[in-house]
Amino acid sequence: MPVSPTPLHSAAALAIDARNVGRVYKAKPNPIVALDGIDLTVRPGELFGLLGPNGAGKTTLIKILTTLLLPSSGTASVFGFDVERQTSQIRRIMNIVSGGEQSGYGLLQVREQLWMFSQFYGLGVREGWRRVDELIDLVGLQEQRVQKVSQLSTGQRQKLNFARGLLNDPWIFFLDEPTLGLDVSAARATRELTLAWQAAVPGRTILLTSHYMAEVDEMCDRLAIVDRGRILAIGTPAELKHRVQSESIFRLELDRLDRGVGALARLPGVISAASVAGNDNGADGERNTILVKLVLVDDGALGPVVSALAGLDAHIVSLQKSEPSLEDVFVELVGRGFEDDLTVHQNGTGLRSAGSRPADEESVAEELAGRSR
Ligand SMILES: Nc1ncnc2c1ncn2[C@@H]1O[C@H](COP(=O)(O)OP(=O)(O)OP(=O)(O)O)[C@@H](O)[C@H]1O
Ligand SMILES: [Mg+2]
Repeated sequence: MPVSPTPLHSAAALAIDARNVGRVYKAKPNPIVALDGIDLTVRPGELFGLLGPNGAGKTTLIKILTTLLLPSSGTASVFGFDVERQTSQIRRIMNIVSGGEQSGYGLLQVREQLWMFSQFYGLGVREGWRRVDELIDLVGLQEQRVQKVSQLSTGQRQKLNFARGLLNDPWIFFLDEPTLGLDVSAARATRELTLAWQAAVPGRTILLTSHYMAEVDEMCDRLAIVDRGRILAIGTPAELKHRVQSESIFRLELDRLDRGVGALARLPGVISAASVAGNDNGADGERNTILVKLVLVDDGALGPVVSALAGLDAHIVSLQKSEPSLEDVFVELVGRGFEDDLTVHQNGTGLRSAGSRPADEESVAEELAGRSR
């Protein structure tokens, strides 16, 4: 039975505590400010999302928190361990899986490869095999147990990466675009695995990055919207959406409304009621329903409207809540769409965005050497 993550440190009330974290990459012609004063706290047990366009700084932040890269300024700790001074403690309690990551050694079989990693994680021979088989079952790779890693499909490879990431039973799991390049069902399997893993033991914490708004919306307890190295907003998905739409909007379909929408607009809690362009459902045009856009002060105002409809002899055919998306929130905050700037962007701060990672001076060396400033 896995042990519940409990802070080893007295100061470790937070799973992540980042204060004014900055990161500047040396690059030509200008240095690149990838992180520009990030303040972020994540509590144990949270599934926290980082949502932002290409080049926003998400991976850079994850690299700092997973001790692969040093911050240029500021401080950060993971379960109370400092990312600069207590790297070995952090490495024991965390793991990371990135979308599109290669899965090690193609010639090895799935089981051999996982066992090899279990030895890297210091698991001991018998414990290693036990854990490998347990995780193969957990991620659903039973049929690929002795298949060569090079022969796995993208989705199967990502399951293998997940199993690898869980070998050391991390307290905190960093998932950097875990569903990148996966088809719908493999992406769903990945999300389900993530949620089930987290739910199995209280306190397990996840930091997830994604471009997929729906994924972040569906999975995350809280999220930060990140752009150009800064956090623009933090909150639950509902809180963030509330920022762009404070009232409740419903789309109501009625079989009839003889007294007109004006009768609805006068009800308490209704800000406005307006009929929306016609709804000819029947091929013969006979069955017409009435569509109404209903703007209420809050969801609670819906009950009286429904009761009033019965009195007006109108029956509800369908009722749909119209919610803003996280994309709407992003546009409101940033003033541009999420995918709008897929071209190289450089401004006065030397920031770039949008998949414009330069052929870079540091990354290869830093991955090999551990990390760099
Ligand atoms: N090793 C590096 N050397 C120089 N610049 C880098 C390096 N890694 C990232 N950058 C730059 O830092 C900025 C942030 O990149 P980062 O990879 O953190 O963004 P991201 O939010 O993860 O983007 P994506 O969604 O495309 O994965 C970008 O402008 C990028 O070009
Ligand atoms: Mg990234």
